[in-house]
Amino acid sequence: MADGSMTLAFTSAVEAETAAIWQKVSARITPMEWRLQAPLIAKINRLKTEKNAVILAHNYMTPEIFHGVGDYVGDSLGLAREAARSRAKIIVQAGVHFMAETSKVLCPEKTVLIPDVLAGCSLAASISAADVRLIKQRYPGLPVVTYVNTTAAVKAETDVCCTSANAVQVVEMVAREWGVDRVILLPDEFLARNVARQTEIGIIAWQGRCEVHERFTVDDIAEIRASWPNAEILAHPECPADVIAASDFAGSTAAMNDYVKTRKPKQVVLITECSMADDVACDVRETEFVGPCNLCPHMKRISLENIYQALLHDRYEVTVDTAIADRARAAVQRMIDMPPLAVPARYDMVKARHHVDVELI
Ligand code: 13P
Ligand code: SF4
Repeated sequence: MADGSMTLAFTSAVEAETAAIWQKVSARITPMEWRLQAPLIAKINRLKTEKNAVILAHNYMTPEIFHGVGDYVGDSLGLAREAARSRAKIIVQAGVHFMAETSKVLCPEKTVLIPDVLAGCSLAASISAADVRLIKQRYPGLPVVTYVNTTAAVKAETDVCCTSANAVQVVEMVAREWGVDRVILLPDEFLARNVARQTEIGIIAWQGRCEVHERFTVDDIAEIRASWPNAEILAHPECPADVIAASDFAGSTAAMNDYVKTRKPKQVVLITECSMADDVACDVRETEFVGPCNLCPHMKRISLENIYQALLHDRYEVTVDTAIADRARAAVQRMIDMPPLAVPARYDMVKARHHVDVELI
C-alpha cells in the first residue's frame, strides 16, 4: 500500500475503536482484510475530527469506505443535499469528479477534495459546454435539463439539473413552467429513454452512455431468471430500456437500497455497480445477493489509502471558476429546492400513454 498502511498495527485500541464498524462489514470483509483496513479507518476517522472534515461517500464505494469512513452516504441527489447543508470546513468526496464539483459549486467557501483526480465518468466526458450551446441554438425555446453526471461547465449552460431519483419530476416541472411539451434531457441516452416511458413530455436526448450500465443486456436478465428463478431483479435507469422492462424494479441507487431494506427479499440481483450489493448486504443480513454486476473503474480509483492522503495533505483540491460556479449553482439549487418525492421514483412500469421514443440529437 502506497502510504505504508501495511505497517500500521491492529492493536487492541484500534480493535475497540472500530468494533461497531466491524459488526457491520463482517458480512462482506474477511478478518484478514479487516486487520489491514481497521488501523487506517481509525486514523482517517481521527483525522476527520481534527480537521473538521466530512466524507461524502457514494453508494458505489467499497464497504470499508462506505461503512468505515463515510459520514454521509447515498445517491448523487442525497450527497448533493448533504454537501449543501454540511457545516464542515473540508469535504472529501469519496466518489467521482463531477460529484466533487457539485459539492464545490454548492459550497464555494469550503475546501473540497477528491482523493484521485482521474476518477471521471463516461457520461460527464460525453458532452461539453460548447455542445450544449449548439444544442440550444438548434432547439430555441426548449428548456435544457442535465443529469448531475456532467461537468460544472455543462451545468452552467443548463436550466435545471436532475438525478435518476427525480428526472421525471424535473422534466415535468420544467415543461410546465416553460409551457412546452418537449424538453432536452442530457447526456444519458438510456436514462432519457427510460424517462420518456414515464411521461407524456417529449424527450430530446444525447448519445452519452454510462460505461458500467450500458453493458447489461436483456439476455443477461434472461440468464439470471434461469439461474435464480426466485430472485428479485433490481436495475439502475442508466441501463438500456429493455433491461429495465425485464427487471422487477428500477430506480436510483438510493431507491434500490430502500427497496431491499424495506422489502428484504429472500434473493436479489442488483443490476448495477458491484459495490452496491456489498454495502447493502452489510445492512440487510437476511437477503442473499446473487448474480452479476459491473465495476466502475472510476469509482474504484478511490481507496482508504488515497482518502487518508487526501485528508493528510489537503489534496486534491477541486476548484470551479466563479462565473461558471454561479451559473451551475442556479441549476443544481433548483433541483435541490424541489420537494422530495414521497416514494422513490421507479422506472420499470411504462406509464406514458403514447410510449413515444426519444428524439436523438
Ligand atoms: P445515483 O446514485 O444517482 O443513482 O447515480 C448512479 C451513478 O452512476 C453515479 O455515478
Ligand atoms: Fe459514471 Fe457510470 Fe461510473 Fe457512475 S457508474 S461514475 S455514471 S461511469
